[in-house]
Amino acid sequence: MGENRKLLTQRKVYSDVVNLAPEIAWAPLRAGALEATARSYAPYSKVLVGACGLTDTGEIVVGSNIENASYGLTLCAECSLVSDLVRVGARRLVAVSIVAGDGEPLAPCGRCRQLLFEHGGNELLIDAGDGVTPTALGDLLPGAFGPDDLGARRNP
Ligand code: THU
Repeated sequence: MGENRKLLTQRKVYSDVVNLAPEIAWAPLRAGALEATARSYAPYSKVLVGACGLTDTGEIVVGSNIENASYGLTLCAECSLVSDLVRVGARRLVAVSIVAGDGEPLAPCGRCRQLLFEHGGNELLIDAGDGVTPTALGDLLPGAFGPDDLGARRNP
């Protein structure tokens, strides 16, 4: 029961964060993500994906998907975004919009949820579309393995 209560409390934390979502200006993030689809390299799937994120210091970072003739080596738009985040020296992601070429939000794939978790944690807000409450990453990737687990689980 105690453990369940702890989980419920954690979940509430995400909801509290999501309640702050109106403070995020989603329109420019979604527009930035759509603009980034113009630089997608997706000759194989022809699914253009763009991602645009806001950092805790107010920077905007972007990414586009980059496919490869060896299909499995494809880089998702979120991979490019994380690369941009590190490149500009920013610290944490606060909100991210990921869209396809039609401008509508696209659910981040499993690997990218993990990539985003590393740089935004449970509280990172993911655009869910117009009139839809953004989703906290903690709700998309519950119980994630993260940087904190490494130190705690390392053999002495
Ligand atoms: N894609 C992304 O860029 N991000 C995701 O989270 C899901 C999928 C891309 C990879 C590939 O270029 C195309 O969408 C079709 O899977």
